[in-house]
Amino acid sequence: MSSLRVLISAEQIHTRVQEMGAEIDRDHPHGPVYLVGILKGACIFLADLARAMKTPARLEFVGISSYGKGKSSSGEVRLTKDLDVSVEGFDVVVVEDILDSGVTLSYLVQVFQQRRPKSLRIATLLDKPDRRQRPVKVDYAGFHIPDEFVVGYGLDYAEDYRNLPDVCILTE
Ligand code: IMP
Ligand code: MG
Repeated sequence: MSSLRVLISAEQIHTRVQEMGAEIDRDHPHGPVYLVGILKGACIFLADLARAMKTPARLEFVGISSYGKGKSSSGEVRLTKDLDVSVEGFDVVVVEDILDSGVTLSYLVQVFQQRRPKSLRIATLLDKPDRRQRPVKVDYAGFHIPDEFVVGYGLDYAEDYRNLPDVCILTE
């Protein structure tokens, strides 16, 4: 039987996301900023982050093949849904739920750099530094967490648990 234990409460998340919104505002006094969320995990974080910002933001999403139904990365990354617009000459912040091995974000940074944005920054709610395989420079990190499998606030295990308000450790 699987069990859930709260690691980061909804209240802690709220406080930190407000701070991250202010940090993004400080770095981007003039809008619009393209917030590019990685589906599906980042959608809840992106919705709150966008509303924590005062700088005008435009919302975009990309789809990427990642973990599938398991808990370990396949190591293979593929874009399954691209941006709907050109971001050339615009400020872009890629918004991710969790940075783990770094495979996903290092690939996406490479893809987006080819689109010639004015600036390209990365915001991730969670960072598991212990598991890094590829270096990724993060501009806005919400929480550093230990090497545990977490769900909630957008994060899933086989598509379940995304709508939990807290980030929880899932154990079986
Ligand atoms: P990376 O490419 O290994 O950095 O993995 C990033 C992606 O793996 C995230 O967008 C998540 O979809 C997934 N992932 C990594 N760790 C977890 C976790 O603890 N819970 C749920 N999904 C995770
Ligand atoms: Mg994801």
